[in-house]
Amino acid sequence: MAKNIVLIGIMGSGKTTLGKIIAEKTGMEFIDTDEMVIQRVGKQIGEIFEEHGEAYFRDIEAEIVEEVSKKENCVISTGGGVVLRDENVDSLKRTGVMFFLTASPMTLWERVKGDKLRPLLKGDNVIGVLKRVLTARLPLYEQADYTINTENSPEKTVEAIIKLYTKHTSLSSQE
Ligand code: S3P
Repeated sequence: MAKNIVLIGIMGSGKTTLGKIIAEKTGMEFIDTDEMVIQRVGKQIGEIFEEHGEAYFRDIEAEIVEEVSKKENCVISTGGGVVLRDENVDSLKRTGVMFFLTASPMTLWERVKGDKLRPLLKGDNVIGVLKRVLTARLPLYEQADYTINTENSPEKTVEAIIKLYTKHTSLSSQE
């Protein structure tokens, strides 16, 4: 079976942008778990948080993760908080090679500033929130197979991910 490419990381780390390019280059199917939650509930993520609470969002997210983990040959872009549940990480890693995308708090802030759709970034001190969330989740994100710095151009970053994925999957097929 062809393993998935799974992208994790904080908001603004480039999961969706890079995931789409990887899918285009490799011919793999692109899946965005946030987008699937939006489709399933029929509401934007901000509305889901406001009307039903974060726990409800996390339940739907976990349900979707379980489903997409059964697929193969896909590029799976996840929501930044997917690592908060161990079972999500376990399922995604079972059928995929996991990449933790990261960048400096300043770069993350540049990418997400002015974004009105992310409920966790609603307040004034966005860079403070990003730093706090990144520090708190770092041990969880570090469960990924590889950590990728996304400060380079998207093309270079994508190239690095595809190279590591190819090497990883050809090594594990020899086991
Ligand atoms: C979240 C990140 C968001 C989205 C939700 C919660 C988080 O996804 O799932 O707003 O907890 O970090 P992105 O990382 O794609 O922005």
